[in-house]
Amino acid sequence: MSTPQSLLIDDIGVLVTNDPALGDGPSGRIEGAALVLAGARIAWAGPRAQAPAADARVDAAGRCVIPGFVDSHSHIVFAGDRSEEFAARMSGRRYEAGGIRTTVAATRAASEAELLANAVRLLREARSQGTTTLEVKSGYGLSVADEERAVRVAARLTEEATFLGAHVVPPEYADDPAGYVDLVTGAMLDACAPHARWIDVFCERGAFDADAARRVLTAGLERGLLARVHGNQLGPGPGARLAVELGAASVDHCTHLDADDVAALADPACGTVATLLPGVDFATRQPYPDARALLDAGATVALAGDCNPGSCYTSSIAFCIALAVREMRMTPEEALWGATAGGARALRRTDIGHLAAGARADLVLLDAPNPVYLAYRPGVPQVAAVWKDGALVSG
Ligand code: NIG
Ligand code: FE
Repeated sequence: MSTPQSLLIDDIGVLVTNDPALGDGPSGRIEGAALVLAGARIAWAGPRAQAPAADARVDAAGRCVIPGFVDSHSHIVFAGDRSEEFAARMSGRRYEAGGIRTTVAATRAASEAELLANAVRLLREARSQGTTTLEVKSGYGLSVADEERAVRVAARLTEEATFLGAHVVPPEYADDPAGYVDLVTGAMLDACAPHARWIDVFCERGAFDADAARRVLTAGLERGLLARVHGNQLGPGPGARLAVELGAASVDHCTHLDADDVAALADPACGTVATLLPGVDFATRQPYPDARALLDAGATVALAGDCNPGSCYTSSIAFCIALAVREMRMTPEEALWGATAGGARALRRTDIGHLAAGARADLVLLDAPNPVYLAYRPGVPQVAAVWKDGALVSG
């Protein structure tokens, strides 16, 4: 077997490893650092004076290197757009779950090639902005054939494909929502489970109540899928506690949590991450989640993007970090951790979200001297280069 080509990234002004054993604080920060990549993995991380030799060298010129963003929530398999709905919302209309049906109609009418091309476009857009892992959901098909097609397209893009047949009840089941849950937990799950790692449900008024959501998640778990939940987005509700009860990896949105929800998520025995999606609250004029309550209570908090055509059409995790810092009072360090190591926890992955020897070589060189710049210079492109699995994929 030949030795994999190694690459030294030298003269890193600030390296965020997310490994407290390697540097300062929870983000394992090292000033004056170097990294060595070997094949798809990190071979070494530490102070540059101690760096081992490598086959090739990149000069970071004093700039900052961070783990690639782990965006644990997206809905990029869709067709059409909802810019008119957004404009109406900015003029005062409320965001409602029912808008999803507009995208369902457009998605059903599109060809598989069109869906794939649009999703690839968005994946590349995200990658060029530093996202090296992107979870991708179905959820705009809502028939057996259309969900199977969507989750199959998702699985072509990512290892983190999610079956979200329980996004909303489609129009043809408006008079028989229980029949739709039967379909999701029966023939639709049969068709989709082979392509997915995850099962998700939108547990919210206007979508699925706690009993229906429990049925959906339990059916998925029995099929060997792992659970994640959309909950507490539009109002208080049972989503967060259901996620904790069923051992879901993550409950996403968490915009409306009560004290009991926060306590449940902060319980040391709880394995459920609270994933906050501030881009959604921005684009739907919702209040922002109380990140401080979660963090101060000891919950694990991730940040994700939720790229979708309705509630949040951004692929920029840097923008979400800026919102989290400015609007949710997360420190820049907490926000970056949430968008990297936190995202990895929300996906139950130990090989990504950090830059220690053995981890995947998924990383971003920023055109900035330190990671505070992600929030300090909002809206400014600052990604100089992106490596995924050790390969330069952008820059
Ligand atoms: O995560 N909340 C449910 N699903 C998406 C919105 C989808 C849409 O509006 O099209 C979300 O916000
Ligand atoms: Fe979502």
